[in-house]
Amino acid sequence: MLGNFSYHNPTKLYFGEDALTFLAEELDQYGPTVQLIYGGGSIKKSGLYDEIVAILRSCGKTIVEDGGVMPNPTADKLRQGAKIARENKVDLLLAVGGGSCCDYAKAVSVSAYCGEDPWDKYFLRFEEPTCKIIPVGCVLTMAGTGSEMNGGAVISNHEEKLKIGHVFGDDVMPKFSILNPRYTMTLPKRQMVAGIYDIFNHICEQYFSGTDDNTSDYIAEALMKSVVASSRVAIRAPEDYEARSNIMWTATWALNTLIACGKTTDWMVHMLGQAVGAYTDQTHGMTLSAVSLPYYRHILPYGLPKFKRFATEVWQISPLGKTDEQIALEGLAALEGWMRELGVATSISELGATEEMLDGIADATFILDGGYKVLTKEEVKEILRESL
Ligand code: NZQ
Ligand code: ZN
Repeated sequence: MLGNFSYHNPTKLYFGEDALTFLAEELDQYGPTVQLIYGGGSIKKSGLYDEIVAILRSCGKTIVEDGGVMPNPTADKLRQGAKIARENKVDLLLAVGGGSCCDYAKAVSVSAYCGEDPWDKYFLRFEEPTCKIIPVGCVLTMAGTGSEMNGGAVISNHEEKLKIGHVFGDDVMPKFSILNPRYTMTLPKRQMVAGIYDIFNHICEQYFSGTDDNTSDYIAEALMKSVVASSRVAIRAPEDYEARSNIMWTATWALNTLIACGKTTDWMVHMLGQAVGAYTDQTHGMTLSAVSLPYYRHILPYGLPKFKRFATEVWQISPLGKTDEQIALEGLAALEGWMRELGVATSISELGATEEMLDGIADATFILDGGYKVLTKEEVKEILRESL
C-alpha cells in the first residue's frame, strides 16, 4: 500500500542537445559571483569548460575557480571548497561534471557557513544544515548517480577509511540541472558501463523491498528494461544519441525520489559498495557490481516472490515447469550475463580488495533495514568473502 507521503522535487531540468542555451537565463537569477566546480580536466579536453566560461562572462559573472574535484570527493577537498565559497562570498555553486562534482557542490553548499567541521557534522553525526545554504546548479557530463536531481552528497575520508552519504533536503537539491546526452559521449567505456550499472542498481535498491502491489515497482521495471536495452546499443555504438539520451534520462529517474514513493528501500549493495570504495577508492559503479550477485543470492530466499517477478518481468524468463526458486535464480543468472556484456567488475579482488581488508570493510559497512533481510555482521563478512 502506498500510504501517506508528500512529493515535491524542486530541481528544474533542461534536457537535450540545446540544454546549455538555458544556462544564461538561470544565471540571471543569482548574484555576481559563481564558484565553478569541475573535476580532473575532462571538461577542458572536451571544450565544455570554454563554453561555460564564455557564458559566465557574457552574463557578467565573476568566476571563482574550483577544479580538481576527484572521483569520490574527499573531506579535505570539501573543507577547501567551503573555505573558497565563504571567502569569496559566492552566490552560486556551478558544478560541471559527473556525480562527484554535483555531490561535492551540494556538500560545499551546506558547509561554507556551518561554522564547524562539515565531515563531523554532516557525515558522522548526520545533522541537518541550519546555516545559510548556497544554491547549486549542475551541468552533467556523466550519467549514473542521479545527483543532478537529488539531495545526496557522498564524501570519502581516506584517513578514517569511511565513505558516507548524506541525503539532504529540498533546499540543498540543485536549483537547475542541464542534461545534454552528447556530453556523455567522451566518457571512457569503463566509466560509461560503471554509470550504467549504478543506474540499474539504484532501481534494484528500491525495487527489492516490500511485498505489496506498488506502482513504484511497475515504473522500476520499465526503467530497468530501458537501461538494459539502451546499454546494449551504447556498448556497440557509443555515439548512438538515442541510447545515450535514454541512459541519461533513466539515470535521473532512477534516483530522484520518484520510485522510492511507498517503498521501504534496501540500499545494502550501496552500503557494501561504499565500504569497498572507502578501502579501494575505486569507481563507484564497479564497487556495486562487485558485491551485487553474492548479496542478491544471499537475500533471494527472503524475498522470493519479488526475485521471481524480477526474472519474469525484467528478463522475460519463462516460468513454465519451474519452481519459484529456479525462476528467481534464472533472473539473477540473466543479470549476471548482462553484467558480463557490460564488462563491469564482478569481484572485489579485481578492485584491489584483499582478504586482510575484509574485517575492516565489514566494519565500515552500515547495516540498514528496509530490504528483505537485515544482515548480521557475520552475513556482511560472508557476502564480502563471496565477493572476493
Ligand atoms: O574528473 P574528470 O576529469 O571530469 O573525469 C571524470 C572522472 O574521472 C570522468 N568523466 C566524467 N564525465 C566525463 C568524464 N570523462 C570524459 N568525458 C566525460 N563526459 O569520469 C570519472 C568519474 O566521474 P565521477 O563524477 O566520479 O562519476 P560518477 O558520476 O559515477 O560519480 C561518483 C560519485 O557519486 C557518488 C559516488 O559515491 C561517487 O562518490 N554517488 C552519489 C549519489 C547521489 N548523489 O545520490 C548516489 C550514488 O549512488 C553515488 O554514491
Ligand atoms: Zn550509486
